[in-house]
Amino acid sequence: IGKMADVETIIEGVQSVLSPKDLVGEHVLITAGPTREPIDPVRFISNRSSGKMGYELARVARRRGAAVTLISGPTSLQVPFGVSVVRVETAAEMYGAVMDHVGLSSIAIMAAAVADFCPAEQKMLKAEKEDISMLRLDRTPDILAGIGALERKPFVVGFAAETGARLDRAERKMIAKGADMIVFNDVLQDGAGFETDTNVVTIISRGKDGVHQKEFLPLMSKEAVASAIFDSIVSHKE
Ligand code: C5P
Repeated sequence: IGKMADVETIIEGVQSVLSPKDLVGEHVLITAGPTREPIDPVRFISNRSSGKMGYELARVARRRGAAVTLISGPTSLQVPFGVSVVRVETAAEMYGAVMDHVGLSSIAIMAAAVADFCPAEQKMLKAEKEDISMLRLDRTPDILAGIGALERKPFVVGFAAETGARLDRAERKMIAKGADMIVFNDVLQDGAGFETDTNVVTIISRGKDGVHQKEFLPLMSKEAVASAIFDSIVSHKE
């Protein structure tokens, strides 16, 4: 009381007032960031994801009137105003958190770069170097495929980070994982992919006639990409 709000909070408030409110009534579940799969108490397997794309999606969804739950792997980003966050570390924890929340959601966007493998066993004490050269790996649970296979599921959006213009792989992924939409990006392209503030994406979706639609977007800020993704979701849900 009596203390002025942070400048960021004021700016966010202004942007929120100026945004269309076309997501009022929607519950949006978003995963973001990498996961960490521990080898022992000091080492883990992870990847280069910063979480920026997922956090921008959460910010934009909230501005447009949605209730937003962000399931976040380890990142250094600030949680957007008005977004409720569940912090997780491993793919198994992320899977559990998503399954806990998916029942209430109408839109689920899996933007996290979930580690594909985890050590088959976690050592309680720091492992010897020789033991790590023999590391056995298991596959982590596929969260996107898990919600895509649910009987009652929200509108499901996945991401496909590929090296090279593998749109065909992304389309196959959309079908195989039961997603309604896949956001493709080639992480080798300048200004795209991990750790950058910009991205170059193609939004692939299932058309009403069964033919896949593709929207090729130019280099844009991740915030603008997030807006374009929600524009597309809104037009497909109608
Ligand atoms: O199969 P791939 O990892 O390329 O699929 C990418 C998409 O699947 C992303 O949307 C990612 O969030 C999701 N994914 C997941 N759980 C995994 C692996 C990927 O939700 N274990």
